[in-house]
Amino acid sequence: MKNDVNRQFRLKTRPTGRIEKSNFDFVDEPIPEPGKGEALIRVLYLSLDPTNRIWMSDMDQYMPPVEIGEVMRGGGIGVVVKSNSARYKEGAYVSGLTGWQDYCIADEGARAMSVLPDGLPVDLPVMLGACGMTGLTAYFGLLELGRPQPGETVLVSAAAGAVGSVVGQIAKIKGCRAVGIVGGPDKCRHIVEDLGFDAAVDYKAKDWREQLAAATPDGIDVNFENVGGEIMEAVMARMNLFSRMPLCGMISGYNTGDPAMRGDFSPILMRRINVRGFIVIDFMEKFAEGTMQLAQWVMEGKLKHRETIVDGLENAPVAVNRLFDGENIGKLVVKL
Ligand SMILES: NC(=O)c1ccc[n+]([C@@H]2O[C@H](COP(=O)([O-])OP(=O)(O)OC[C@H]3O[C@@H](n4cnc5c(N)ncnc54)[C@H](OP(=O)(O)O)[C@@H]3O)[C@@H](O)[C@H]2O)c1
Repeated sequence: MKNDVNRQFRLKTRPTGRIEKSNFDFVDEPIPEPGKGEALIRVLYLSLDPTNRIWMSDMDQYMPPVEIGEVMRGGGIGVVVKSNSARYKEGAYVSGLTGWQDYCIADEGARAMSVLPDGLPVDLPVMLGACGMTGLTAYFGLLELGRPQPGETVLVSAAAGAVGSVVGQIAKIKGCRAVGIVGGPDKCRHIVEDLGFDAAVDYKAKDWREQLAAATPDGIDVNFENVGGEIMEAVMARMNLFSRMPLCGMISGYNTGDPAMRGDFSPILMRRINVRGFIVIDFMEKFAEGTMQLAQWVMEGKLKHRETIVDGLENAPVAVNRLFDGENIGKLVVKL
């Protein structure tokens, strides 16, 4: 990494389909000077998330889209290198919206970042994954909206990824049967043998619908939905009376713009399924509680985690496509 400039990815054009490097300008800017009440942060790790693709587009979304010419929005972890604020001590680690760049400014208002505690018991990338935003997404989406009861069947799609891998393991901690849908035999093996899921369904196999039926003999009580499209429709057809469906994501349509569902709402009516969309920030007030619990499970060995780490800020726009190609296991991060 160059230390004398601030390399930044600025959005040049909105992607149509896959994200291309040409959608960005990669520019060198001077390293910013922190003003009063501000701190200069050197970014160490970037979180790559499916929502980056949403932010690049101008579709209806939960935050304003990234403007053309603006630094690409992204979560990350950095270290305080210069500070004019009592909130940020030099050398402390912080997490928040760093953007796709080498340096950012944190303040005490709209651009405030969370200061991570000293002596973290886990490596920094885990604070972006199992103990970070994706872990919290799994935790609150499953427990507050899915409300799994012991003995129930919890199904999660994109089950080998950052959110899904945590959902299945929390389901097991809560005494449920955990079933994951993933692409390919390696991920099937991983979620069952390494993470302790009860069954896996390979949606890339010809007989995936039969696999789904065999893996859910008593139907599905909670569907933690990450994917949308025909996988979601097949799962909904197997959901039980008064079952719950936290709608977390619809990644199958982010590049294509395909609707999550083509029309059959009848399972929602006939089986009174409680479908509830959510964004993790809806639970912001409880983040500290969630983080403590996730960290405790990690320390106790009850919650396993994995990170796929890509080197170099310059690789972010290409690496983010791994999420759409299924080339990540666990949390995808860029190390700067
Ligand atoms: N609501 C919220 O606040 C919130 C927060 C974080 C994430 N999310 C959502 O949660 C979901 C998972 O996010 P994540 O960060 O944990 O990513 P991730 O699961 O680590 O990575 C995405 C995975 O999705 C699978 N996938 C990609 N395209 C697919 C397709 N067309 N059909 C089926 N599977 C596909 C791939 O796994 P395979 O190899 O198995 O295909 C890929 O590895 C996304 O929908 C995301 O938008 C929502």
